[in-house]
Order: sequence, then C-alpha cells, then structure tokens
Amino acid sequence: MKLTSARLFVFVFALSVVLLFPSPSSESKQATNVEARVNALLAKMTLEEKLGQLQQLDGEGEGNYRPEHVELLKKGVLGSTLNVRGAKKTNELQRVAVEQSRLKIPNLFGYDVIHGYRTIFPIPLAEASSWDPSVAERSASIAASEAYATGLRWTFAPMVDIARDPRWGRITEGAGEDTFLGSAFARARVLGFQGRDYSAPGKILACAKHYVAYGAAEGGRDYNTTDMSEQRLREVYLPPFHAAVDAGVGTLMSAFNDLNGVPASGNPFTLTKILRGEWKFDGFVVSDYNSVLELISHGLAGNNHDAAEAGLNAGVDMEMVSRLYNENGATLLKEGKVSQATIDEAVRRILRIKFRLGLFEHPYVDEAAENSSILTAANRAAAREASGKSMVLLKNDRGTLPLNKTISSLAVIGPLADDPRAPMGFWSADGKDTDTVTALAGIRAKVSPQTKVTYAKGCDITGDSTSGFDEAVNAARQADIALVFAGEAKEMVGEAASRSSLDLPGKQMDLLKAIHATGKPTILVLINGRPPTIGWAVDNVPAILEAWMGGTEAGNAIADVLFGDVNPGGKLPVTFPRTVGQVPLYYNHMNTGRPPVADVRWNSKYIDGPWTPQFPFGFGLSYTQFKISDLQLSAPTIRPDGRLNVSVNVQNTGQRAGDEVVQLYIRDVAASMTRPVKELKGFKRITLKPGETQRVEFTLGPDHLGFYNREMKYVVEPGEFKVFVGSSSEDVIEKSFVVR
Ligand code: NOJ
Repeated sequence: MKLTSARLFVFVFALSVVLLFPSPSSESKQATNVEARVNALLAKMTLEEKLGQLQQLDGEGEGNYRPEHVELLKKGVLGSTLNVRGAKKTNELQRVAVEQSRLKIPNLFGYDVIHGYRTIFPIPLAEASSWDPSVAERSASIAASEAYATGLRWTFAPMVDIARDPRWGRITEGAGEDTFLGSAFARARVLGFQGRDYSAPGKILACAKHYVAYGAAEGGRDYNTTDMSEQRLREVYLPPFHAAVDAGVGTLMSAFNDLNGVPASGNPFTLTKILRGEWKFDGFVVSDYNSVLELISHGLAGNNHDAAEAGLNAGVDMEMVSRLYNENGATLLKEGKVSQATIDEAVRRILRIKFRLGLFEHPYVDEAAENSSILTAANRAAAREASGKSMVLLKNDRGTLPLNKTISSLAVIGPLADDPRAPMGFWSADGKDTDTVTALAGIRAKVSPQTKVTYAKGCDITGDSTSGFDEAVNAARQADIALVFAGEAKEMVGEAASRSSLDLPGKQMDLLKAIHATGKPTILVLINGRPPTIGWAVDNVPAILEAWMGGTEAGNAIADVLFGDVNPGGKLPVTFPRTVGQVPLYYNHMNTGRPPVADVRWNSKYIDGPWTPQFPFGFGLSYTQFKISDLQLSAPTIRPDGRLNVSVNVQNTGQRAGDEVVQLYIRDVAASMTRPVKELKGFKRITLKPGETQRVEFTLGPDHLGFYNREMKYVVEPGEFKVFVGSSSEDVIEKSFVVR
C-alpha cells in the first residue's frame, strides 16, 4: 500500500495517541481488578465473617483437619489452616468453604515447607554455604511444586533471620550471620517458592519470618529478649526482610521475641511504620504460633482483650492458633479500642493475597497428580547437586582428599555414618527417614566392588558409653583410611534447641581421638546444623569436611565429594568459634578503641585463649588452588551518588577444575558513626578449569557504601573507603578510594 500524506498523517496521529495514552498494562488491570473484587467482597461481609478471615487454626496431626474446621468454614469464619495437607483432605475441606459457606471464600492451606517437602534439600544454613543463590531458588521451587501437589498454597518460609550466635538452634534455618548474603538468599527463596506470579500452578505463597530480630535472642536462648540500637536493626536485621518484600513476598510472620521493650508481635514501629509505611508492603502479616497470646507473658498486655488490641493495632493481620481477635474483636470495636478501618484493612490484606493466589478461581488441587509430582528422580538429583554445592572443605593436608574409588579398604565410623534422621535436619516437612541415603550407603554405592567397607558405630550421638570404641578401633586398624562421621542429632537443632556448648555431643570427640591414635589416616566428616567447636580435630586430623545436614540425598553427595566426583567449593556463611565463650563472634564487628594485638595486654581480647575464630566467615578450601590478583578500581575518587567498578583476576593454579567464591568487602575508614572492620558487598561463585583465568567484576554504589547516621538517615559520607577482594573474609588483597 502506498502511503499518501493524508494517510501518513492519520497513521502518525494514531501512533502518538497510542504512545501518549497507552492502555493500562495487563498487570495494572489485574491489580485494579483484585482491589475491586476485594472491596466488593468486603462490603458483603459481616463482622463475624471478617474476624473469621483473621483466624488460622492448627490441624489435628498427620495432615488431618479437625471437625471444628468444617463447622467454622461452613459458617465462613475461618481464614486459614496450618498443617492440614494431602490432596484429598485439602479438597474435602475446601469444598466446605467454597460450596457450603455464604460467601464462598476459600481456605488458605499453610505448612512449614522450609527446605523441601518430601524430597528434602540441605538445611538453609548449608545452602547458604554454596554462596550460590540459584541453589536455594531451585530447591525452593522444587519444594513448592511438591507442596502444591498436596493441596498446600502457603509456606512459612523463608526464615531470613540474621544469626550471629551458634548457640541458637534456629541458626540452622537461615543464611547465617551476614546481611548481604542473607538478603541475596532471601530474594532467591522468595522467587523459588512464588516465582514471578504465585497464582501459577506449582507455585506457593512465601512468608518471610520471623519479623524481626528473633535471631538476636540474648544468650542464644530461643524466644529470648532482643535489645539493640535502631541502627543495628536497620543495617543488620531488617535488610533481608526488605529484600524479601522487594522480591514480592506475599506474607510475613511476626516473631516471638521482645524487641527493645515492645514484643515483635505487638510492635507498631516495625509492623506498620517500617513495613507498610516505608517499604509499602501490601500483603499480610501472620503471627507466629500463639505469639499474640504471648503478649501477656511478655507483660505487654494484662489479659486476652488487651493482647488482641495490641496485636491488631500494631499490624498483625492473622492470628496463628490463639483466638483472641475472634473472641475480643466485637468488644474492642464497640469500645472504640480497635477501629472498623483497622479490622477492614487486615481483612483486605488477606483477601488481596487470596485473590492474587488465584484461590477463588482454582481452590482445588488435582488428586490424581499428587504422587507423580513427589520425590521424583529429577528432584532427588537436584537435592544431591544442592548438597554437593553446600559442602565446605575445612582442612585438607597434603591432598588427603579426594579418596580413590579403588582404595582397598575403608573404615566408616561414627554414630552419624548410617543415621538416616540427622541429614533431614529440623523442619523436614513430609520427608521420610526411609528415603534418606546415609553416608554409609552413599560410600558403598560409590567405591569399587573390590573395596572392603567396614562400618562401626563406635558410640551414640549422646551419652557416655564407650563400649563400641574397641570395635571401631579394630575396624580402623584393619583399613587403609578411617572416615569418622560426627555431629548433631536432628533434635539438637531448630526451634527450642539452643545449646550452651558447641562441642560435639556425647563421646564423639573421644571416639575421633581413639581412631586417630591408631595412626591410620583419619578424616572427619561433620553432619550438623550449627558451627561446632572442634579445635582438637583441626589441630590433629589431616582432613575435615563440613557436610552439614544435607537432606534426602546427603549420603550420595558426601560420597561424590569424598571421592572427587564433585570438587567442594562452599564457604562458611557463619564464623566458626574456637570456644563457646567467644560467642557472639562475627566478622563484621566494630574495631573498638583497642583492637586486639597479640602479646599486649590492654586491648580487646581474652586472657585465657585466642580472640580469633577457628574458621572465619567466607572460608572454604577446594581440591584445587586459586590465586586472586590484580585488583583494579575504575577510579580513585567517586561522588557520594557515584559508582565504582572493582575487578580482579582469578586463576585456577591447581590440577583440577573447581569453584571459587570471590568475595568483595568494604570498610568505611572514618565516619560520623563507627563502621564495621569489613562488610560483604559482593560475591560470585565461578568455575575454572585447571590453569584458567577469569576477570571478575563488581560494582559498588550508594546502596553499598551508605549507613544510617545519628539522625537515622541513610547517607554515603565523604572520606576514604577500603576495598578488599579475596577468597574469605580474612584472605584478601586491598586498595582504597575516596568519596568526595
Ligand atoms: C513456630 C515457629 O516459630 C515458626 O517458624 C513456624 O512457622 C510456626 N511455629 C508454625 O509451625
């Protein structure tokens, strides 16, 4: 067609109209649509129905619902259940909500799917040791698909609490001590569970928990008080939650702890001012289990009525298990202690998420597809890979590892060598011990048919008996190599599992000493969920592998690493102390006015032992070696809003292909508030062939260089900054630049 000038004019005019007044995107249309549907539904609801949406109740055990759930859903006065699962059961209960209630609002089925549903992945602390967020994104995505198949639509994960105290059992559930690494893993897990659109099949709603500062519990004792400056709260404990919100997380869980005198489940400063006001979060907050009721034990409320008032007004929308909102909501409203607008807003947030989840369109799950989606060969393979990527080689003198598959004999020793429970870790959802590949099974499957593998338990994980030592010592004497598996039982980590000692429990260290005394090369493999104190082993045995609690495929993954099919490349996401007395010990501490100096008394250290860690944050070896060199900065000075490129050469100088995690730290040398001696601001895990060199680049900008000043404003202050790049927080090369 020939374009005449008139036609051209019409065409250009039409084009400018389209460009100037674009039709609303389908995303914004959908959002408007959701808000309209929420408001229309809200307008039809009675007060009782509204309060009902704010209630979550626990199941009966084994995934069953309670008769009471049926009654409440029929009346339209229950918003969510916890622990009810299984395609048939959830469909049955959902049918009551959707087909028998007045307003047909679907129930939201929640469960703790933390590191896998049936196929169990390594504990989150282990996955953080991969320093590869895609490992966590993939495992969360697989966990979501398995959970979805059983009718679940909501997980109480990720736990994004920063934890600097290994006594706290829940350190196992998070990404360790660092905010930058923790934020990267928070983002990855949210994306893994939810995808970009959590109404898609196989995706479930995530819940960032425990908001906030739960990981700072004094003395490492679970549920204990936390008290910290607002700077520390904003710089260390809040950012992973903010990262989760920015990644689109639909819900948060309010924590059990007291925070600066106001318990987290009744804290309007964190729940409303920061979360809704500053971060613009428009999803909902669920309390932790009974944490609204516990406001009474904390002493924030004198009775149920006042606890409900405190929780609701602070911004906790849904109450897990305790029923104070439902029992007191009407009275509180009548008395004017809680406004209609507050109740409506809480309901609105919950309905908004239910609509976004697509629950109204797809309330049921396909019962026929349930079993075929779970514990598939592909899921197990992914778990094995994740576990291999999560292991950290702590010591390897004279190339003790990897072992040769054709070795003639091996003694596999220790209470964790053939224990199918510990590798599952805490919160192992519907994972089954019978699915676990133990280390012994993994090793037997790996070695040559000629290799003689002898197993001796030696002792239990706990207790004082050494009656099995002789058998274990004999097994070691008759073998070429002794592998000792030691660590913690499943019950020793997780919620309400704080420990006042970080030593290997029971007689495990004595067993290791007895095996070592045989003179046979002895390798220690740790299966545990928190940093242990293992000084004797570090000083005496030639090789130590931190295998963590590695999930369903742990044993295969351990064998992959021990025999060199996988070259370990993980790094510690948390400092390993030498003694429990050093705790809390973390790399990004302040310098003090008297930083420790050896052999000088009057400075910040101990008189009865070193101040330095056993293994620093970011530490981990490989079967090959790397050299990091030629640190270059793109400019000697930048403006406060400017950017700087940082680059280094990384070379594999050894004989095998392997992974290095290149880490970037900064230090703001002098500022109006004291700054940490180092802060992680970048990391990359790369794979290099023997001899290969790669240039690795990072960018620093205002997001990395600033801090909260005395007026609680985020600022980048002029002055000197140091940049460190290396293979751990201690093994670095450095340069400086100036912000002007
Ligand atoms: C209590 C725990 O603190 C929390 O993490 C968990 O999600 C809930 N119980 C529900 O099981």
